[in-house]
Amino acid sequence: MGFGIKTYLFYVLDEALGKHDWFGAGAGYHIWQGKRIRAMIEHYGVRFFEGKTLLELGAGYGDIGNVFSLLGAKVTCLEGRKSHVAEIKRRYTGVTAIQHNLNEPLPPSANKADFIIHFGLLYHLGDPEASLRNTCRACKFMALETECCDSDDPNFTRTVSEHAFWQDHAIDGKGSSPSPAFVERILTEEGMEFERVTDDRCNAEEHFYDWPLKNTGITKKGMRRFWFAKKKSVA
Ligand SMILES: C[S@@+](CC[C@H](N)C(=O)[O-])C[C@H]1O[C@@H](n2cnc3c(N)ncnc32)[C@H](O)[C@@H]1O
Repeated sequence: MGFGIKTYLFYVLDEALGKHDWFGAGAGYHIWQGKRIRAMIEHYGVRFFEGKTLLELGAGYGDIGNVFSLLGAKVTCLEGRKSHVAEIKRRYTGVTAIQHNLNEPLPPSANKADFIIHFGLLYHLGDPEASLRNTCRACKFMALETECCDSDDPNFTRTVSEHAFWQDHAIDGKGSSPSPAFVERILTEEGMEFERVTDDRCNAEEHFYDWPLKNTGITKKGMRRFWFAKKKSVA
């Protein structure tokens, strides 16, 4: 597909995402969703997803996974909240939606995939290291995006209390704050190579990916990092 088709696709995408709400929160949520989806399509190409098995973790309402289903992937959305799973099923008949607590290992029916979309979840988990290792072992490619702590320590993560009644937070109220170096250490140890998004292409509203690391040890809402990762053994 050429440039024209991609432009059209992005137009349709923005229109479609803009029609949906996200728990009634942030009218601009779809802009941030759209930017991350665009970044993936620009990185991999429109045809890359055809025929691939794809897992979306912490899928929310499944809006992101659904786009890749429309691009030909066989998509399974894993989500911890029953109400979200019901909403995914209501919105998108082309994806499979399963309720699963991602503090646990991936379920046997979904522990092998060509591609994992791992957006906005890692910092809502109690043990980000165990979970990330488990997901690295389950896929060939991963697009990974999370809030991070401003630290360059590859062993740094801390526990963070969250409000479980907020529908986009940890289901059990136990989150974490890993450093970018922590994430990259685990990716490397799990045999993944990766490229980090260092520019502003996904910046939207309060979310930033191009903030300078100052090693303050502070975690501030919106300080995020994004990686395209791939198993080294995959051609
Ligand atoms: C910040 S939202 C991210 C939504 C979407 N992935 C995105 O990036 O736009 C986090 C999602 O993870 C889900 N979640 C939180 N803790 C979870 C857990 N332990 N297991 C599965 N899903 C969880 C929440 O219900 C919510 O839908």
